[in-house]
Amino acid sequence: MGIIIKSEEEIAIMRQAGRIVATVLETLKAKIKPGMTTEELDVIAAKELKKLGATPSFKGYHGYPANLCVSVNDEIVHGIPGKRVLREGDIVSLDFGAIYDGFQGDAAITVGVGQISQEAKRLIETTEGALRAGIGAGRPGGRLGDISAAIQQYAESRGYSIVREYTGHGIGREMHEDPQIPNFGTPGQGPLLRRGMALALEPMVNVGDWHTRVADNHWTVLTVDGSLSAHFEHTVAVTDGKLEVLTAL
Ligand code: MF3
Ligand code: CO
Repeated sequence: MGIIIKSEEEIAIMRQAGRIVATVLETLKAKIKPGMTTEELDVIAAKELKKLGATPSFKGYHGYPANLCVSVNDEIVHGIPGKRVLREGDIVSLDFGAIYDGFQGDAAITVGVGQISQEAKRLIETTEGALRAGIGAGRPGGRLGDISAAIQQYAESRGYSIVREYTGHGIGREMHEDPQIPNFGTPGQGPLLRRGMALALEPMVNVGDWHTRVADNHWTVLTVDGSLSAHFEHTVAVTDGKLEVLTAL
């Protein structure tokens, strides 16, 4: 396959797709409350997306049954919305993708339900910080490993572990394009970053061990040790001298 370079016009469309994804996630963040089911979040996401004139990326992807991934506490990614009731103190990763005019946007945030513990807050801040560090480390002429290493360094220096079995990815007309983007690595290594690349960066960070297991539903990925996990994702484009966040408002 290889890495697909996008034109200015294609990046402009991806900016629109990204803004739509960011808008839906903002709405979910504003509405999440103790007592809600994870399924209610999926319904809100579907309605908001329709209003914005885009279609969901995840629904039907390898048979995935929902619009949104909702991963609670020790769930890392790919949690399927359902009857689970959210409780005060839970942390919830919301991962959402949309297709607009043939191009994909993909982003994730982790939010607290009501009051959460200091440990949970620090995990969330660290995971978002790791994503920011990765974004800050990328530039045209650099290497993919610069981004991966910055993410890893940020999270591990704060005492957390980086999930290794799931990665970020190139993105464009397809949700998953080359290259794979591990959240750990070595500066100066890996593919050259070139203007027009679009990448989904998505650190998954655990309080405990980095090992994962998949639930009986064949989708939900959890920490093996039951420790809390957080996930942040942005779709970015390699533009003039930097990475531009596309999944922003
Ligand atoms: N956002 C996820 C990713 O980056 C995709 C969710 S998997 C799906 O890989 F099946 F729900 F689509
Ligand atoms: Co992704």
